[in-house]
Amino acid sequence: MKKIANIEFEDYPVFLAPMEDVTDPVFRWLCKQYDVDLMYTEFISADGILHGGKKGMRKLNLVDEERPVAIQLYGKNVESLVEAAKIAERSNPELIDLNFGCPVKKIATKGAGAGLLRDIPKLLEITEKVVTAVNLPVTVKTRLGWHFDSIVIEELAEKLVNTGAEALTIHARTRSQVYSGEADWNYIKKVADNPKVTFPIIGNGDIDSAIKAKEAFDLYNPDAIMVGRATIGRPWLIKEIKHYFKTGELLPEPSIKEKVEVAKYHFEKSLELKELRPAIVQMRRHYVNYFKGAPGIKPLRIKVLQANTPEDVYNTLDEIVYNFGDFVLDRNYSNSK
Ligand SMILES: Cc1cc2nc3c(=O)[nH]c(=O)nc-3n(C[C@H](O)[C@H](O)[C@H](O)COP(=O)(O)O)c2cc1C
Repeated sequence: MKKIANIEFEDYPVFLAPMEDVTDPVFRWLCKQYDVDLMYTEFISADGILHGGKKGMRKLNLVDEERPVAIQLYGKNVESLVEAAKIAERSNPELIDLNFGCPVKKIATKGAGAGLLRDIPKLLEITEKVVTAVNLPVTVKTRLGWHFDSIVIEELAEKLVNTGAEALTIHARTRSQVYSGEADWNYIKKVADNPKVTFPIIGNGDIDSAIKAKEAFDLYNPDAIMVGRATIGRPWLIKEIKHYFKTGELLPEPSIKEKVEVAKYHFEKSLELKELRPAIVQMRRHYVNYFKGAPGIKPLRIKVLQANTPEDVYNTLDEIVYNFGDFVLDRNYSNSK
């Protein structure tokens, strides 16, 4: 049994990574059907919620079915993060997570997200003050450092223990890498094995299969792993991972017919919870991955991406099943092809 503060998890916990414009309430609802152990909101700007910005306030809405859930905040000022954390606390999440890893230029170069890796005293002060300000466990998510020549994660993890933070997620890339190259899990192992680092370490970066997830736990010793991009258009991945840990068996890859059922279910929930236009548009990034890999499917994939009404979406999904329903993607298919 693994724990973060007083929240208990099964062995080999698998968390869904926070992803802006992806892990909204609909996607979290969907992933919850696939055994995910902990989910996070998309990141929320501290300044945004202090100014009552609609987007941020909307992101603070949680539902009981998705628990345990963390609200993730980002910002650059100690005071605004403290005040925003107090507001977020009213939504009653299980955790508040602080984002010190976002590489996006307009955030990081202004001193928020991964920008705080260039100001460790401030990063620590923010964490300590937020821990003191709220009655919820506070966790941190960050990267290895700003650049290869300024990797700070080992010392930072030791210092974060003294702030009262309850866990640390490490996306094992530097800010300069953004998403290029490979995540270097050796750093995760060094931190996880350090006896001075007494809180749980959540390893993150490039996990896209049950085999890789097992390798991550076996070789690098994290307390939990976090999976992000590979769940887009493949929300069942976390269940595949959990099933593999429990039974040692790999679940069969779903056929296109089964994937269409999930995509329809996903779209129906989007129509229920969102305005029509965002429901249609935001599904598009998921279809790209739901329907990758079948030879000849591209024209229909493009057609579903261009569909502008629910009727067109459903009709095109039916066409996909009619033409490609039995196709099963090779397990070794690479998304980057
Ligand atoms: C579209 C997108 C949006 C993201 N948004 C966030 C975010 O809001 N907060 C955060 O901490 N990380 C964010 N990330 C980073 C992921 O949480 C994760 O650390 C990263 O994708 C590496 O994990 P992966 O290789 O499993 O995808 C985002 C990543 C992507 C691709």
